[in-house]
Amino acid sequence: MSYHKKYAEWENNPISFWEDKAKNISWIKPWEKTLFQKNYISNWFHGGTLNTCYNCIDRHVKNGNGLKYAIFYDSPVANIKKKISYQALLDNVSSLAASLYQDGVRKGDRVIIYMPMIPEVIISMLACARIGAIHSVVFGGFAAEELSNRIDDVSPKIIISASCGLEPNKIIDYKEILDNAIKKCVNKPIKQIIFQRDIKTCLLNKPGDIEWNDYIDEKKSIECIELNSDDPLYILHTSGTTGLPKGIVRTNGGHAVALYNSMKMTYDITENEVFWAASDVGWVVGHSYIVYAPLLLGCSTVLYEGKPVGTPDSGQFWRIISEYKVSTMFTAPTAIRAIKKEDPNAEELKKYNISNLKYIFLAGERADPESIRWTMKATKKPVIDHWWQTETGWSIAGNFPEYGLFDILEGSTGKAAPGYSVVVLDDHGKELPREEMGNLAIKLPLPPGCSSEIWNDKNRFFEAYLSKYRGYYNTSDAGIINKDGYISVMSRTDDIINCAGHRISTGSIEEILTNHNEIAECAVVGMVDAIKGHVPIGLLVLNNSCTKSESEIENEVIKLVRDKLGAVASFKKAFVIKSLPKTRSGKILRSTIAKILNNQDYNKPATIEDESTLNLVIKLKDKI
Ligand code: COA
Ligand code: AMP
Repeated sequence: MSYHKKYAEWENNPISFWEDKAKNISWIKPWEKTLFQKNYISNWFHGGTLNTCYNCIDRHVKNGNGLKYAIFYDSPVANIKKKISYQALLDNVSSLAASLYQDGVRKGDRVIIYMPMIPEVIISMLACARIGAIHSVVFGGFAAEELSNRIDDVSPKIIISASCGLEPNKIIDYKEILDNAIKKCVNKPIKQIIFQRDIKTCLLNKPGDIEWNDYIDEKKSIECIELNSDDPLYILHTSGTTGLPKGIVRTNGGHAVALYNSMKMTYDITENEVFWAASDVGWVVGHSYIVYAPLLLGCSTVLYEGKPVGTPDSGQFWRIISEYKVSTMFTAPTAIRAIKKEDPNAEELKKYNISNLKYIFLAGERADPESIRWTMKATKKPVIDHWWQTETGWSIAGNFPEYGLFDILEGSTGKAAPGYSVVVLDDHGKELPREEMGNLAIKLPLPPGCSSEIWNDKNRFFEAYLSKYRGYYNTSDAGIINKDGYISVMSRTDDIINCAGHRISTGSIEEILTNHNEIAECAVVGMVDAIKGHVPIGLLVLNNSCTKSESEIENEVIKLVRDKLGAVASFKKAFVIKSLPKTRSGKILRSTIAKILNNQDYNKPATIEDESTLNLVIKLKDKI
């Protein structure tokens, strides 16, 4: 059936569309109401009970697939390769879950997982899912303060971590960062389970520290706990428009149904194939497509602890595809740009056989057509751009091989996935005709798998996403839909920039900068970067009384952001400026500043307070 027919089938009867998809999941008790809406919250498969871990592991083992590989772990940085079968995964997950349960971790309790890309991170996530504990994974590139904020937000009973993480040419002391974070936070955990990596172990000398191997009793196991479809599976923090990250809550039932369906509909994968998402488990792509979706389907997933380049070379992506016979891979355009820069003629690719590869999927930021063309030419495979967000958990738009690919349109992220009704709205919430640029929004209800709650803040989901355009979810992306339904996502409408596929709030960097006691005010904007898409840069106005040199301050704030937010922010440039362009009402003209610095056309704002400030920004261009 063609995409258009399938989309129409969903549009005409969304309930029966999703009921049909839900048959792929093993339910303990069938749901009573397919879609139960209360206020603005959509609960899918309401009244049904299931366990996500059971669906990811136990049922495959019961079906005779225990010997199939669930995980291919490949770490060029640690020089380790490991193949983990579904049976071995079950044993490991069940033992850890049993220890957690014995420690009093129960349904609804939170567990923070702060780990590098090692199999134990997946084992930890699934162990939580097995006993109904809500996991909250924190990305390794965040500083202690960000980790501490997340610990305080979710009040975990237990934290699971590791001695270290490995970045090219450096070891990240996870335990030291964790110790600092716990010192700062109010809601302290009762225990820290630490996985000691051979490459660098750590001291376990803080109250509650216990080594992974001592914590787990391999002889113990526990069955999966029955959970409601609406019970939370995990919390994942993402950048909000203020410094306070939003804990996106994902529930069990809708998530399992949507992700299982996406493996077939969006990625065209069967149970006997290998799927690889070259991301990090700390991000939503990692949650959905390194861990949950491949395991729900029962295929094999690749866990790659390395970078596209430099670990040790730019041929690693092709090596992984060849070595594990990857059928479908998913990465961020920034990774492609990094490979293209090092190996413009794709010489490395010639060393490997990638004949099993069917498609390459891209997401996380706007894909530049040049990178797509380069990849298609080098690999001779379709390169499919698709659009999604942490909040949705799976793609809003794409191209759907299960229904036969439609033509790829350069610069577009494809057409709306069955499940999403995407529209373009003007600033007052009026639907715009095709071909007009505006705010991309999704008509409510959101499909299964999408979040409708922010942890610890009852009203924030409504305020952040639903209050601006009544009846719609505001994606905070600007874009256009053409006459044939192709969606192009152009930019964010808020203060978020996409830096190397990571979502960074410029507002949260500004909050850190203004804490420096010599900074009177500042603006952080995104600068176009050939590899990372955008990187944040800061413009700083100093107090009149400041006696330090400009370069001293600039270095201090760069360190400050690294210490408070983390290296992942890639905040490496800050410049002192006499004053900032503002409106007469005192609003800093950030988008005008960004346009000037990025050599883009801009209109002199009619409401500008002092036109000479624009020249200060223009002059700054020579320094950058
Ligand atoms: N733990 C600790 N530190 C981390 C980290 C982690 N998990 N991930 C990144 N960092 C650090 C890096 O070491 C680097 O520190 P530095 O400033 O001291 O060098 C900093 O954070 C920025 O990292 P990164 O953005 O990865 O930049 P890079 O220059 O090291 O690598 C790319 C550039 C393009 C190769 C890399 O960003 C990449 O592979 N991007 C793909 C991202 C992706 O897949 N995103 C998922 C969305 S789908
Ligand atoms: P995250 O929640 O970190 O996955 O980031 C989501 C944001 O990344 C979206 O709101 C978009 O701004 C951007 N994004 C994701 N995928 C794409 C894409 N294919 N094209 C353009 N922007 C994208």
